[in-house]
Amino acid sequence: MTLSTTRGINTPAVNSARTIVTEGGTPLTGEIRIGGAKNAALPMMAAALLTDEPCVLENLPILEDIFVMVDLLRFLGADVELDTEQHRVRIHAAELANRIAPAELVERMRASFLVSGPVLARAGEMETPAPGGCKLGSRPVDVDVRGFKRMGASVYVGDGFYRMTAPRLEGADLYMDYPSHTGTENLLMAATLARGTTTIANAASEPEIVALGHMLREMGARIEGIGTPYITVKGVERLRGFHTSILPDRLEAGTFAIASVITGGEIILNRVNERDMLPLTHKLREAGAGIWWSDDLMMVRPRGKLESLEIQALPFPGFPTDLQAAFAVLLTQAEGTSRIFERVFNDRLRYTDELKKLGAKITLVNSQEASITGPSPLRGADVRALDIRSGACLILAGLVAEGETRVHDIHHVRRGYEDIVGRFQQLGARIRYE
Ligand code: EPU
Repeated sequence: MTLSTTRGINTPAVNSARTIVTEGGTPLTGEIRIGGAKNAALPMMAAALLTDEPCVLENLPILEDIFVMVDLLRFLGADVELDTEQHRVRIHAAELANRIAPAELVERMRASFLVSGPVLARAGEMETPAPGGCKLGSRPVDVDVRGFKRMGASVYVGDGFYRMTAPRLEGADLYMDYPSHTGTENLLMAATLARGTTTIANAASEPEIVALGHMLREMGARIEGIGTPYITVKGVERLRGFHTSILPDRLEAGTFAIASVITGGEIILNRVNERDMLPLTHKLREAGAGIWWSDDLMMVRPRGKLESLEIQALPFPGFPTDLQAAFAVLLTQAEGTSRIFERVFNDRLRYTDELKKLGAKITLVNSQEASITGPSPLRGADVRALDIRSGACLILAGLVAEGETRVHDIHHVRRGYEDIVGRFQQLGARIRYE
């Protein structure tokens, strides 16, 4: 289905169910094709604002966050054709008619701040509210804003909004206090059209950032060091359009891999990058899972009893914070006491209260450290998704728990997982929308 190409905030929602019901106890089996990565799709869509040529992205995941980005790009003046059946989007920002991002969109997801770098670099001005998004602790955009300032932008900080102007950004030496994921993407995109050379030290190196860097090169950007903490960008006068396919979602793949292990199943993940999965596969093996690779196919199943261990969520190639909650479910089924250290966000363990309602034995040492004792039998209960990944975690717990688990507020999950119910059903899970 091709959705309307008109501009405005009018893209429909995926569906309106509020609750997912699971019945645990069925080992998941079968093969599943992994979709495109949300956290790569969003910056890549924003990058289309850097050029007046048409841009096409294939393998687009069909998610609420993508719809928000479509609306935002349209609002800024781009023509956007979204083909949900072909998983493709065509974006043509011949002109940027609007340089003010509307609060009703920006408050819905943090990635909306990603349009700031491209619009500022191309149009010389941008006004945007501070972004919203999942509540995981403090989520400033200082790294981005400081970087824009060092590149010559004047930044006025109003009551909850930023107004930035720079007739032409100037290359600069940037140091990031924290290797922010979206901060690196924003500065990288802005630097492609700046006058002169920009260096970014302490840059983030997530696979999604590497994919964005490669795509920017396809557009004509001159970038070195992508995937390392030191990136160099030589600014160019203009960039071309792109036609590219989005890399596989390592977080979706990781969620299914963990589901296979905790249900005692055997799943083949089709179309995954081995290197991107390494932080997870290393810990899955340590816990007692077997993993086999054949090109971009990954088979995963438990080999016997699961063992307790320690995970530390860190920037890539550390263990992904976005799989920390899902992995906690595995640890409830592992023998002994495990520890989780969340070192990326300062408040991303609140979901443990929900897991406890299912019978998990978890102690919160502080807002960034938890200890989990297992194995503990989980029993169905009513629980609430707090954000995208905690929602996925509770669905996984429901696939293990005896009886019915009802996960409420699943609009969070729809922001990051395409048709999660249909896909788990395909693997034999007893799961449905209510
Ligand atoms: N931080 C700062 N200063 C800044 C920016 C960030 O101190 O100026 C700190 C934050 O306070 C936080 C940490 O850095 O504690 C991580 O923030 P970062 O900016 O790296 O994360 P993000 O860009 O907001 C992206 C993903 C998240 C993912 C994180 C970490 C997108 C759209 N979002 O967020 O994905 O958890 O990186 O890898 O790419 C999700 O998909 O569910 C999700 C939350």
